[in-house]
Amino acid sequence: MARLDGISAIVTGAAQGIGAAYARALAVEGARVSICDLDPPEEVVEAIRAAGGQAIGRICDVSDPETVTALVRATEDAFGGVQVLVNNAALFGKIVLKPFTEIASEEWDRVMAVNTRGPFECVKAVLPVMRRQRYGKIINIASGTVFKGTPMMLHYVASKGAVVAMTRALARELGEYGICCNALAPGLTLSDTVKGRNDYGALRALNVESRSLKREETPDDLIGALLFLASHDSDFMTGQTLLVDGGSAMH
Ligand SMILES: NC(=O)c1ccc[n+]([C@@H]2O[C@H](COP(=O)([O-])OP(=O)(O)OC[C@H]3O[C@@H](n4cnc5c(N)ncnc54)[C@H](O)[C@@H]3O)[C@@H](O)[C@H]2O)c1
Repeated sequence: MARLDGISAIVTGAAQGIGAAYARALAVEGARVSICDLDPPEEVVEAIRAAGGQAIGRICDVSDPETVTALVRATEDAFGGVQVLVNNAALFGKIVLKPFTEIASEEWDRVMAVNTRGPFECVKAVLPVMRRQRYGKIINIASGTVFKGTPMMLHYVASKGAVVAMTRALARELGEYGICCNALAPGLTLSDTVKGRNDYGALRALNVESRSLKREETPDDLIGALLFLASHDSDFMTGQTLLVDGGSAMH
């Protein structure tokens, strides 16, 4: 029996990048995966099905409660429940690095709407299902930047700091329903978008240098922690943030 047999998981922002790697890894372990993104998720859905897994895909804006509710309903209809929610969608790859004085208020609000309110909307939408099941695993994707105070992306760092704080407070509110809420904080990871950026050269080198384990981080480095948080292996753990960054920041 695979580790996640009988489990149904929603992964947001999974049409590509690290989210797609999470979705594929969950499916390999037996989970039925519901993939959503602003971009069409068909390619990832097809890849999972071609490998013998089960997946559905849907366009969904995590900052729009209506599309989020529809996503949860579609997942329940297809798979009969939702045991795992991975709040991965975020405005990250396209963020332009700049001093905070140059961040417009509208850009600040949009980053907060997706990165912080998005997980809130998704947790709210999935709660009735998980409460009924008296079981659920919420995995919020945070960021190592919170622990390092990374400069030049203040709105992003603040949005992910809020994700860590929300994880703790949600854990307190959700424990009585048998729902665990933890966060996974990656260090700078060679996702599709990071690999495609030409302004990250110096940043990548500095990150590697700051690590105890001196190499680049890839999406595969995050899979062990993700599966731990998604599986029964972590059933007595909640409100925690696992920082997977090769020992750069320590908390
Ligand atoms: N790559 C890194 O170095 C790194 C480091 C720390 C944390 N993270 C976090 O990991 C996650 C994935 O990182 P990535 O590098 O693959 O990011 P990415 O920017 O490449 O991918 C984000 C995905 O979210 C989707 N998305 C954006 N807004 C959305 C919305 N409103 N509704 C639904 N989907 C939306 C995008 O279309 C995209 O597919 C993000 O939460 C990011 O903040 C990444």
